[in-house]
Amino acid sequence: MSDTKVSQPSNLSRRSLLKAGLAAGAVAGSAGAARAAGDPLITEIQDWNRYLGEGVQARPYGTPSEFEAGVVRRDVEWLTASTESSINFTPLHELDGIITPNGLCFERHHGGIAEINPADHRLMINGLVDTPLVFTMEDLKRFPRENRVYFLECAANSGMEWRGSQLNGCQFTHGMVHCVMYTGVPLKLILEEAGIKTSAKWVMPEGADASAMTRSIPMDKALDDCLVAFKMNGEALRPEQGYPLRLVVPGWEGNMWVKWLRRIEVGDEPWHQREETSKYTDLLETGKARRFTWVMDPKSVVTSPSPQAPVTHGKGPLVISGVAWSGNGRITRVDVSIDGGRNWKTARLDGPSLSKALHRFYLDIDWDGSDLLIQSRAMDENGYYQPTKNELRAARGENSIYHNNGIQTWHVKADGTVENVEVS
Ligand code: MTE
Ligand code: CO
Repeated sequence: MSDTKVSQPSNLSRRSLLKAGLAAGAVAGSAGAARAAGDPLITEIQDWNRYLGEGVQARPYGTPSEFEAGVVRRDVEWLTASTESSINFTPLHELDGIITPNGLCFERHHGGIAEINPADHRLMINGLVDTPLVFTMEDLKRFPRENRVYFLECAANSGMEWRGSQLNGCQFTHGMVHCVMYTGVPLKLILEEAGIKTSAKWVMPEGADASAMTRSIPMDKALDDCLVAFKMNGEALRPEQGYPLRLVVPGWEGNMWVKWLRRIEVGDEPWHQREETSKYTDLLETGKARRFTWVMDPKSVVTSPSPQAPVTHGKGPLVISGVAWSGNGRITRVDVSIDGGRNWKTARLDGPSLSKALHRFYLDIDWDGSDLLIQSRAMDENGYYQPTKNELRAARGENSIYHNNGIQTWHVKADGTVENVEVS
């Protein structure tokens, strides 16, 4: 094969290609780097170009390239005593856009992963209803269904960071969040099928796993936007995410999104389950605890650069990117600071802007190579601003674990490495 054939698409000879590359690289501050003349990756034909590749059906269920092997969920061993009641984290620093791939959605289990044959799964509706009902998966798939993109955030996300910077990577500080498109039946339709009595004010979803997760949800929310979901990103839920059925409670803390959903009881008052009394409450300085703090307030984090995604290209064009979300609705603005919160620039939101979903933001800067203290601050359509950690501590004290939506700081050093620090 001649050199001209290698560069066929642009009809350039090898010499003019090299010249073009060098010329682009010579422009100060340009993102196009100068490539060494004679780079064999340009001048030599490579194996993947010379030989036929694998055919169709070599990978009946597609998986990422072997070069993406580092893009995985990770846990922090010392955080929990056992893996069955534990957590792992979404690799936010590796992702872009707003959708989390199914295999990368963080997992939080209280009694391990229930492995359920959908043919054996049942959903019962009982309590203050006209007719108690039991549905099979097949029954549920005959109700009108909807497709909705929502984030799910565990109330404990960033819980380790209340008193200062702890974990070195946004995967660990903010990775208890994911965002997928759910397919499911509005809970309203299922409750209406059973007929809710006028005294009914609450519902209690229950999981079929070893923890039998149970939470109280007010009827208004149940009838508003909750879904009984069986698909995520178009395919069946993953076992980790509650296969074959989970509750979707948009904008509210992840704990209420009961996985392996087997029963919904209808009642006239909350049940005061363990996960809404001893856990998932916020202990204040006064010794009192905030309870039923369901909504996940506006929050954001810069995912790159971040400790696991250092700057490797030196000074010049630098893409600062991150995600923002709010349980109250859409994100309308994200500001980014590179000097620890003294000055702010409004970031560019890109991609769909959907209520109670992740939003992607970018700030494209020309990095002069000096130290940066990068922060991001989100605002939602109701005008709620993400607070600084000091503002949060002034309001809630230092005993809290849950609902930390304070502003995160990354220290980018001159050599491009990044560290979790606190500036508040
Ligand atoms: N549902 C059941 N049945 N069992 C559980 O352990 N964990 C809850 C919730 N639903 C849990 C559950 C918690 S605390 C969270 S944050 C979310 O599921 C996590 O959902 P994910 O594993 O799909 O990320
Ligand atoms: Co949780």
